[in-house]
Amino acid sequence: MSAAVATETRPRRLALDDRPYRIGVIPGDGTGPEVVGEALKVLDVVRDDAPVELEHFDLGADRYLRTGETLPDEELVRLAGCDAILLGAVGDPRVPPGILERDLLLRIRFELDQYVNLRPIVRYPGVKTLLPHHADADVDMVVVRENSEGLYTGGGGFHRKGTPHEVAVQESINTRHGVERLVWYAFDLAMRPGRRRKVTLVHKTNVLTYAGDLYQRVVDEMAAAFPDVETDYAHVDAACLYLIEDPARFDVIVTDNMFGDIITDLGAVIQGGLGIAAGGNINPQGISMFEPIGGTAPAETGRETINPLAAIGALALLLHELGLAAAADRVDRGVRFAVGKMASMRAGEMGFSTPEVGDLVIEGASS
Ligand code: IPM
Ligand code: MN
Repeated sequence: MSAAVATETRPRRLALDDRPYRIGVIPGDGTGPEVVGEALKVLDVVRDDAPVELEHFDLGADRYLRTGETLPDEELVRLAGCDAILLGAVGDPRVPPGILERDLLLRIRFELDQYVNLRPIVRYPGVKTLLPHHADADVDMVVVRENSEGLYTGGGGFHRKGTPHEVAVQESINTRHGVERLVWYAFDLAMRPGRRRKVTLVHKTNVLTYAGDLYQRVVDEMAAAFPDVETDYAHVDAACLYLIEDPARFDVIVTDNMFGDIITDLGAVIQGGLGIAAGGNINPQGISMFEPIGGTAPAETGRETINPLAAIGALALLLHELGLAAAADRVDRGVRFAVGKMASMRAGEMGFSTPEVGDLVIEGASS
């Protein structure tokens, strides 16, 4: 946490007055602006259920190449003044790997203490996936990925870099505070309406005997406090296999930052591709940020080939988190309508242009 913004104590603003919710919009890089544009088109048609105003942020590769800045403190302060953030994607082949990812995306996650990366893995009825043996109802889970520590904190370093005796250390930081608040969130989520009251810890306790042990102990303690929630455990490698063979066994998955990153790409495949996978970086007491999880697809930029449903789904999650349930439901209805109309859901070969998909969602959200 930098001194620039003390966000940890910022209470979540409740809509007690008539002030519209302020949504920060970071279109970002590559195809981010195109898909965010479609999400904003959809937001416009549900405005009567969503009192919001937009605040645009020029952050990403272009700004970095122009000015050398990734995330100046004053922009972070401006972000912290929003009620929620919608992000397109971050990363650009013109910028060395790691700069935008670490100093922009991860910095926002860390500074705003968005400690849960919430990634629903839902298969909308009618979506074609690479797994023909899955029924729609088999794929209905939420991954609660740790989003503020683990291997992502940047701890570590080189010793004797560039020599034959080089040492590279990459540390995984796991705090009791961090694991407890994450696991609590997962159990609480499992109890919410529509969920099946089951939490599966995904880790690698047989090898990562310190971090894994902490996670397992916290899950066991939490299970005692949530007697109605069934708990299960899967090693991360086996979890990959189960996601393909038997996804119905999962309701809420709780896992660390790195494992969560990896398994949610596989999760995207079983829900129909990255073009449909949305997620939220959640600070339950603060400002959350929502994004399509698929990345920037630089080679597709400007070609209108990228499915905007993930960005539109991220908008639905955002509206839901703000408590604007009617607007969120309309967007969700629009997404389901669009899916029903589309012949193929494979990202990049969907048979519809990016704006045509946005128009379908609008048709469904308006009916
Ligand atoms: C994601 C991405 C990011 C991550 C990258 C871009 C830093 O892969 O959101 O899943 O690893 O978290
Ligand atoms: Mn990822």
